[in-house]
Parts: sequence; structure tokens; C-alpha cells
Amino acid sequence: MDILIRKATTHDAEYISLLGRITFDETFGHLFEDRKDLLSYFENTFSVPKITSSLSKKENVFWIAFANQLPVGYAKLKIDSPLDDFPNHKTSQLQKIYVLKDFLALKIGAKLQEELFKEVRKINSEVLWLAILYTNLRAINFYQKYGFKKSSKYYHSIGKENFEFDVMIKEF
Ligand SMILES: CC(C)(COP(=O)(O)OP(=O)(O)OC[C@H]1O[C@@H](n2cnc3c(N)ncnc32)[C@H](O)[C@@H]1OP(=O)(O)O)[C@@H](O)C(=O)NCCC(=O)NCCS
Repeated sequence: MDILIRKATTHDAEYISLLGRITFDETFGHLFEDRKDLLSYFENTFSVPKITSSLSKKENVFWIAFANQLPVGYAKLKIDSPLDDFPNHKTSQLQKIYVLKDFLALKIGAKLQEELFKEVRKINSEVLWLAILYTNLRAINFYQKYGFKKSSKYYHSIGKENFEFDVMIKEF
């Protein structure tokens, strides 16, 4: 397989929107009792205008991954995203890193992560943080392998579902 990773632009909005919906569904869809909650979340979060606007903000950096020219994954970094525990540091947030289920074996997650880390070093961010569903063991293992450590808890609701997240941090 020919793997290519590049930064995404607003021209990739349709790719990212569809990848966002499908990868979220593959990862968390089973946690929603009412499918309507999930669909309304998708409408709000992954609509093409919403993603186009997100791609155009200077504080966001997106990457898109292709396998044999097919878009199969994406990642998003939010620059200067504050974290209460590090008020005096330059902190950025790894907001998304998602690969389609059928392509997980290609280890594209690691390649996306490398691109993210390069950017974090380039912008001299001192701390990279993320919030991860505490039951998402595959991703938690992945982040631990790359030096992230659990710090605090964070709670967030989508529709009628309440979720518990672990905040994980990596210092640079
Ligand atoms: C998170 C993600 C990008 C990581 O990429 P990846 O290529 O799967 O990562 P790796 O396979 O290198 O690392 C995952 C680790 O978890 C382990 N693992 C695999 N499946 C697992 C499972 N079902 N439960 C627990 N651990 C698992 C792997 O063995 C690996 O550890 P190892 O390298 O010590 O063997 C990718 O899994 C993904 O896109 N997942 C779906 C979306 C998601 O959860 N995104 C994060 C949301 S915050």
C-alpha cells in the first residue's frame, strides 16, 4: 500500500467531513442507545460548512492520510488550547486522530502522530494534551506508547449519553 500523509486544506472539507462521521461511528456508535443523538451530533460536528470553517482557522492544523490514493484517516491539532493544570505553559491539543477500521493494520495512526509531534516542536508548544474516553483502551495504549500520561478527568454529554474522559498530557 502506498501511504501518503499531507496537511489538509479547505479543499479537503468533504473528505474530512465524511471520514469524521464514519470513523466516529465505527469507534463510538455502539455507545449510543438512540441513533438520533448520534445523527444530530454528526449534523452539528461534521457538516461540510462546519469542517470548512474549522479548516480555515489559523489555530487549527489538519492532516489527511491516503492509502493507495483513498482517504482513510485524519488528525487535527488545535494550537494554543489552554489547559487548567498548565496555566503558564504554551499548550496545544491533539483534538482528533482517526483511521478507518479497515485500515488500522497499516499503522497510519503512528504516522499521523509523528506529523503532529513535528508541528508541536516547530511551534514550540511545551505541552500537548488530549481528552480520551476512558474505555478506549486501544487509543489509550497508543498514546501511552508515545509518552502521554493520564492527568485529570473531564465529563461531556452528547444527546442523552454522558461520557467520562481521561485527560492525557505529553510534555515537550
Ligand atoms: C487511535 C489510533 C489512531 C491509533 O493507531 P493504531 O495504528 O491503532 O495504533 P497502534 O496499533 O500502533 O497502537 C495501539 C496499541 O493498542 C493495542 N491494541 C490493539 N487493539 C486493542 C484493543 N482492542 N484493546 C486494547 N489494546 C489494543 C495494540 O496492540 C497497540 O499496542 P502495541 O503497539 O503495544 O501492540 C487508531 O487505533 C484509531 O484510529 N482508532 C479509532 C479512532 C480512535 O479511537 N481515535 C482516538 C479517539 S481520542
